[in-house]
Amino acid sequence: LGRKISPEEQPWCLDKVTGKVVISKGLENICIDKSTICYIDGFHSKLYYRGYSIEDLAKNSTYEETVYLILYGKLPTRRELNDFSGWMREERDIPREVVELLAKIPRDIEPMEMLRTAVSYLGNLDPGRHDMSLEGVMRKTIRLISKMPTIIAYWYRIRNGKETVYPDPRLNHAENFLYMMHGEKPEQILAKAMDVSFILYAEHEMNASAFTAVVIASTLSDYYSAIVGAIGALRGPLHGYANVEAMRQFDEIGSPENVDKWYQEYILTGKKRVMGAGHRVYKTYDPRAKIFREYAREFAERYGGRVKTYYQIADRLEGYVMKQLCETRNICTNCDFWSGIVYYAMGIPVDLYCAVFAAARTVGWSAHVVEYVTENRILRPRLYYDGEIEREYVLIENR
Ligand code: CMC
Repeated sequence: LGRKISPEEQPWCLDKVTGKVVISKGLENICIDKSTICYIDGFHSKLYYRGYSIEDLAKNSTYEETVYLILYGKLPTRRELNDFSGWMREERDIPREVVELLAKIPRDIEPMEMLRTAVSYLGNLDPGRHDMSLEGVMRKTIRLISKMPTIIAYWYRIRNGKETVYPDPRLNHAENFLYMMHGEKPEQILAKAMDVSFILYAEHEMNASAFTAVVIASTLSDYYSAIVGAIGALRGPLHGYANVEAMRQFDEIGSPENVDKWYQEYILTGKKRVMGAGHRVYKTYDPRAKIFREYAREFAERYGGRVKTYYQIADRLEGYVMKQLCETRNICTNCDFWSGIVYYAMGIPVDLYCAVFAAARTVGWSAHVVEYVTENRILRPRLYYDGEIEREYVLIENR
């Protein structure tokens, strides 16, 4: 017979005042470090990157400028921005070995699995991959955020048996991505929406994927391992994959008339969660959802068809969520509820939406890696041991 360990023998798990075991399941409200990158005010629907509100950035900034802001902590001068955008443009092309790898990867895997493999391989080919100096990480960051849209667009075209479209250095990051996807320059309104979506997805404090990146970096591992780990964390439906699942949920509902029945059958009974609703930090409406929602509404009117049907289903479902879940339980719709409809209007297939999210979020992951390792301490939490110790080992023939 073994022996249970008492709470007193595990004082690191006890509240100093009450003496009771405290378990922070999901690490809710645990502050692991100081930061100057991002502030989320989840009670007042506010989000700031380096102190600038997401509304101001979406309206007035560009993705390139926001990347500079997040990475360097200040808005660039015109000259700094030109140099920086030029650097990003120069880095867009991907090595031939990665293109060959994309051609070999099974066509039916999830785009996030493809991205994980391709980013890892890109790291293998980078001679400076182990350089964790500030300059080294910045260089790898620019390299990666510039190349990720190329990887996604090439993969999309390769799996559809189409010729890849080489990046066009005359186009900005968002325009170029849509150009490489579709082989023609996008309408301005779609390019602007893509640019804004990259801004909205670029950073979001210490979420599960950023935490994964920082945990890996805190062991003084390498940059690419940190990002590959973060891609793995983002791929889960509770996190970034929610934008894919939200669209699948709209497909399952099928038409605006079916929303009521579907909601009663699956949400009121607790059989399913609304995908694209709820958040650990936002207890009111996600400010990014508001911006995505406006684009979705505009595109529904402009393009009609399936875009409009998706919008109508989402609009009706959101009505239920806001009335029944948000008002009473603070479970409100989030950015992933609406972003998919915006991407759908751009002609991007649904299964790619989380990969597009990852391409933008690499900025935030990288900023957190840099910030954390600058004053590094290995991340190492504890568990409360609820099993037995001192159990008698019985030889296999006597069991
Ligand atoms: N629909 C219905 N009920 C929900 C939902 C939802 N979307 N989200 C949470 N709940 C309920 C949940 O069932 C639980 O109820 P009970 O207390 O009765 O068991 C309660 O709310 C608390 O849920 P939780 O899982 O403990 O909350 P959390 O803070 O740990 O999880 C979340 C946050 C985002 C994982 C969760 O809200 C969720 O699963 N949402 C759906 C997936 C989603 O949209 N994810 C995207 C998040 S935002 C962007 C991103 O990170 O990518």
